[in-house]
Amino acid sequence: MQAYKKYFPFRIKFMQQLIFATNNSNKIKEIKAVLKGKFDIITLEEAGIDIDIPEPHDTLEANAFEKARVIYGLTKKNCFSEDTGLEVQALNNEPGVKSARYAGEKRSFKDNIKLLLTNLQQEENRKARFRTVISLILNKKEYQFEGICEGYIAKEEKGNNGFGYDAVFIPADSNKTFAEMNMEEKNKYSHRKKAVQKLIDFLDGLEH
Ligand code: IMP
Repeated sequence: MQAYKKYFPFRIKFMQQLIFATNNSNKIKEIKAVLKGKFDIITLEEAGIDIDIPEPHDTLEANAFEKARVIYGLTKKNCFSEDTGLEVQALNNEPGVKSARYAGEKRSFKDNIKLLLTNLQQEENRKARFRTVISLILNKKEYQFEGICEGYIAKEEKGNNGFGYDAVFIPADSNKTFAEMNMEEKNKYSHRKKAVQKLIDFLDGLEH
């Protein structure tokens, strides 16, 4: 032991591996940018898992748990998932949990935005928020973290970056849509970034 200490006087700290239970390459990019250097994020593809993860429930919380449980069931490895919805005040918080399939099973970003703008055509109240729920399974225990970004829905699409509803969502305190921002700028406001920060704080807290 003493000899070991002589040659390795420092503590080798391995980066904790976490599987991110999503097939969405945009989410992977965003989350890897935030967790870079802190955690070794393994995508489903890298973990050799090729499934369409179910989202059968009517809350973000239940869907996030479901996704993490499915991946944990397959890998028995620490993992996390996230589920996000756009909640529009004038539409009774729709599309919410149905955000991906708002305009149908095709899950087309363009069609979803078109339907949203049509449904809000006569509406003065454009208030909306993105809400992300992250589910973590760590050493067989389950945890959840929430991140919210308040804002409003623009009258027309602007910008080419991002995905989903980015081209029509303007965060409060900004005059640009998410699609007009680069990833760094989006992460200053982002619901997902806020939820991930809670995840990081939680994991950091466990290490001390
Ligand atoms: P999911 O079920 O968590 O994959 O997300 C549901 C849908 O919400 C996605 O298909 C996107 O249309 C939308 N969405 C999620 N996150 C964002 C975001 O950060 N910006 C814009 N749209 C998003």
